[in-house]
Amino acid sequence: MCGIFAYTGTKDCREMLVNGLRMLEYRGYDSAGIMALSEESDIFLEKAVGRVSALASKVDEKKWDSIKYTTWIAHTRWATHGGVTVENTHPHISTNERFYVVHNGIIENYKELKKSLSEKYSFYSQTDTEVVAKLVESLYDGNLKSTMEKVVAKLVGAYSLAVVDSENPGEIVGIKLWSPLIVGKSNDWVYISSDINALSNLAESFSILEDNEMVVIENGDYSIFMSWKKVERDAEAVQEGQKIDELGDFTSYTEKEIFDIPAVLENVWSGRIDFKNKSIHNETLDALSDLDIERICIISSGSSYYAGEIWNYFFRKFSWIQASAIISSEFLSDVFIPDSKTLYIFLSQSGETADVRESMKIVKAKRCMTFWIVNVVGSTIARMADLGLYSHAWVEVGVASTKNVIAQIWVLLMMSISLWLKKDLQISDAREIISELSRLPDKISQALMQGPHIKKLAKKYSVYNDMFVLGRNYFYPVAGEASLKIKELSYIHSESYSAGELKHGPLALVSETFPTIVFNPMGKFYAKTISNIQEVSARKGPILGFISSNDTHKELYTDTIELPETSELLSVFTGLVSSYLFALYLAEALERDVDKPRNLAKSVTVE
Ligand code: F6R
Repeated sequence: MCGIFAYTGTKDCREMLVNGLRMLEYRGYDSAGIMALSEESDIFLEKAVGRVSALASKVDEKKWDSIKYTTWIAHTRWATHGGVTVENTHPHISTNERFYVVHNGIIENYKELKKSLSEKYSFYSQTDTEVVAKLVESLYDGNLKSTMEKVVAKLVGAYSLAVVDSENPGEIVGIKLWSPLIVGKSNDWVYISSDINALSNLAESFSILEDNEMVVIENGDYSIFMSWKKVERDAEAVQEGQKIDELGDFTSYTEKEIFDIPAVLENVWSGRIDFKNKSIHNETLDALSDLDIERICIISSGSSYYAGEIWNYFFRKFSWIQASAIISSEFLSDVFIPDSKTLYIFLSQSGETADVRESMKIVKAKRCMTFWIVNVVGSTIARMADLGLYSHAWVEVGVASTKNVIAQIWVLLMMSISLWLKKDLQISDAREIISELSRLPDKISQALMQGPHIKKLAKKYSVYNDMFVLGRNYFYPVAGEASLKIKELSYIHSESYSAGELKHGPLALVSETFPTIVFNPMGKFYAKTISNIQEVSARKGPILGFISSNDTHKELYTDTIELPETSELLSVFTGLVSSYLFALYLAEALERDVDKPRNLAKSVTVE
C-alpha cells in the first residue's frame, strides 16, 4: 500500500528511479510522483495520475538541460485520504517549498494536526502526508534528523517516511513505525525502499529498519539510529530468490506465477521433507511440536484466509487438535479471549497486512503462542515473533496471490504432518500423505497443460455479468478462493457458496444468463453435489464443472474442465490451479490489467 523509493548517488540516473518505482507499483498504482535535487539545489518535481508509465512519459518528455540531479525521492500511491488527483500525489511539500516528503501508512491523528497547523499554513491536498510536510517546516530546528524525531513524536498511526531538505542536497532521512522501510547499498549508491523488490536488482546488500529507527543517508553512505544512538548492524546480502524474474514468454506475471507453481512446490519442501523416508526435518517445526498445543487458530485475510480454511478442512479430518480460521479484520472486531493452549498462526504473503499485524500485536500482548507463515523475507509480521516459516514462493509480483496460496497450504500441511508424526498420532495417515504429496508437482503440471482448453471456455464465459462458484467440504473454501480470483482479475461479479446452501436462497438468481461454476471431483460428497447441480440444471443455468475424468454424470454439465486423476486431497490443489487459469483467461478475454487489477494493492498496510 504505497511504495517509497529514494536514493542518492554520484550520477544522474532517472531511469533507475522509474524502474525502481515500477518494481514497487504493485503496492499501489493510483498515481506516482518524483522529486529530484541537484548539488546546486535545483529541484525537479513531477507527478502523474495513473500508472508509473504515465509518470515515466512525463519524465521522458521533460527537457533536462545540463542539470545533474543526485538526490531522488519517489512514490507510487494507493489512495486512502483524498481522491486520485495530482494534488494528492506524493511527494508532499512544506509551505516554504523546502521540505519534500513521501509516506506509506496512515497518520491517524492527521485531522487534529491539520487543524492546529491550519492557523499558520494553508493546505493544497486532502492527504494525511501533507500534514507531515507542514510539521517538518513548523518544527525545523536547523537539523533534519532532530526535527524528524520531533515530528514523529507528534504522529499517531503507521508510517514509513522519506524526507529531503532541498537546501541540503545528498541527504535523505527515513524513519518508520509499523510500515516497512529498507535501506540498500551498492558502490556509491544508497537506496531507501518500501520493500526489497525495488532494490533487489540494484543493491548488493540491505538492512531492514526496525520500528522507530531512523536512517540517514549522507556522503554516499548511510547510518541507522535509534533514539540518537547509532545502531551497529551487519547488512544482509541480496539473495537470488529475492530478485524479480524476467517475464520471458509470459504475457503477465500472474500467468508466469501460476505456471511457476510446480517449481515453487519443490522449493517449499526442499531441505524440509524427506520423501524417501517419509519424514520432515525442520528445526522450527521441531520446536513447535515441543509446545503444549491443544488448539490452532489461523488469522489472515483474502486469499490467505482461504488458504487457512482449506487447510482447516484437511486438518479437521486427520487431527486430534481443534482448528479454526478467522478473517483478521473480524478477529480485530471481536473480543479476544486469550487461550494459553492455542497456537495462533498468522498467515500472510506480504507479511505487511495491517489487519493481520494488528491481530498479532493483540495476541502477543497476552503472551499467547504465536507463529507466522509469510512469503516476504524480513517483512514486519515475520519480525514480530521468533517462531515461523517462510512460504518460499519467491517474489510474487501479480497483485492477485496465486503461487503463494498453494505454498501456504503446503507449509500448513507440512506443519500438521510434522505435529502428527512427533505426537505419534495418525502416523500411517501422515506418511501416506507425504508420499501422495510427492506426486503433486506432476499433477499440477498436467492441470496446467489444459491451459488452451480453459482459455476457450473462459472466452465463452466472459460474456456473463455474474457467476456462482460452488463446492462442498474442502471445495467450499476452494470455491471461495476461485470466486475471489474471478472478481479480482476479471471484475465479473461472482459469489461462492457451499453447494448445499444454494437452495436456501441464492438459487433465485439462477437463469440462462447466470452460470454456476462447481467443483465436484469424485469423493465423499460427489453424489450430494450432483443433486445440487441438478437443481441448477432444472432452472436452465449454464454449469461449468471442475470434475474428475471418470465422472459418471458429465451430461449434467454445460462445460467441463477435467482435473488430473488424483486423490481428493490432491484435487484440491489441481482444482485451485485450474481455477486460477480460468480467472486469468476470463480477465484476458475482457482485456483487464491482470497484474494490477483496479482499486487494489498487493501489500495492504491499512486497516
Ligand atoms: C487476492 C489477494 C488478497 C490477499 C490479501 C492478504 O488474490 O492477493 O486477497 O491475499 O490482501 O494479503 P497477505 O497474504 O499479504 O496478508
